[in-house]
Amino acid sequence: MAAAASENVDNQLKPESESEPKPLSKNAQKKLLKQQKYQVKKAEKKAQEKEQKKKAQERKHKEWEETLANVTEEERLKLIESRITLRKERMEKRSEEKEKKIERLTQAKEIGQNIVVDVDFAHCMSETEISSLIQQIMYCYAVNGRSTSPCHLWLTGIKEQMSSHLDKLPGFDKWFIEKETRCYIEAMADRKDNLVYLTADSETVLDDLDPKDIYIIGGLVDRNRFKGITMNKAQEQGIKTAKLPIGEYMKMSTSQVLTVNQVLEILVNFLETRDWKTSFFTVIPQRKRTGVDPVDCSKLQSLSEEHQDKEGHVGESAEEHDLLERKKVCIEVPLESGS
Ligand SMILES: C[S@@+](CC[C@H](N)C(=O)[O-])C[C@H]1O[C@@H](n2cnc3c(N)ncnc32)[C@H](O)[C@@H]1O
Repeated sequence: MAAAASENVDNQLKPESESEPKPLSKNAQKKLLKQQKYQVKKAEKKAQEKEQKKKAQERKHKEWEETLANVTEEERLKLIESRITLRKERMEKRSEEKEKKIERLTQAKEIGQNIVVDVDFAHCMSETEISSLIQQIMYCYAVNGRSTSPCHLWLTGIKEQMSSHLDKLPGFDKWFIEKETRCYIEAMADRKDNLVYLTADSETVLDDLDPKDIYIIGGLVDRNRFKGITMNKAQEQGIKTAKLPIGEYMKMSTSQVLTVNQVLEILVNFLETRDWKTSFFTVIPQRKRTGVDPVDCSKLQSLSEEHQDKEGHVGESAEEHDLLERKKVCIEVPLESGS
């Protein structure tokens, strides 16, 4: 797989056609090399994980065989039977949970808060950034599916590049989500007055979520390279904008620009709790906050622990780190007057 990734990048490094050689600029070559390294590392990590999983399975199987070999025939039968029962119960529980999730998402489709992730920014991102965005979208879907008050989630502006990435996700065709090739401005033309683009650059602070409104999150991973891109887009389209009320509850050590999945998770958490403070403290990782006023965050801690257990592996991105960060002691930031 690593070899395939390397071959892939080698091909990209080749000129498009023999008659029209287009040598790559130094920057483009650097970018491709970086991508190549990323792909190789990713493939190696995947292979390593696969190997570890295989070994763990083999070890468990061996242990099971040894247990069976050291008991009487009667005990052996009992052990096998209880194992079958346990598996059956686990499967039943899983399918029950799945059914409940579908029920919640079906209800959200009818009466839930509409939230859009605008994925029409593939042209602004590198392959690595697109992969990171895809991970964030997967995370958004998982978080929403687990929520007791899920939103009605949309992906709009799914064009060629994004589409081919999304289609590669296992089970994406069965995702309980609205998938739109059009931009929200077209797809929701009759509700233009209710469209609210969420952007950290807005002057308007979001106090509450209005069930009639449709909140849009920019599907972009850019380390804020394109500052103001979503604000400008919303202004050009003549739709409302708003920023999250982060500054009213905590101080950030970095900018208030959050990732797509953090914003979605905050909104979903707010739909459950109607409490911005809880939502921010549950979702925003400690490394992004400043201050030293400890509060009892046991509830938040158990929430994030549960979150991590269920989610397990999020990926090599900052999110994995963020989840671990959230398990550390929560610190509430004392707001100085006027800040
Ligand atoms: C990684 S940010 C993209 C930043 C991009 N440069 C921009 O100008 O939108 C992903 C998206 O999350 C949403 N977002 C991030 N921080 C936000 C905040 N503090 N308030 C409202 N929305 C925010 C915005 O919709 C944003 O487009």
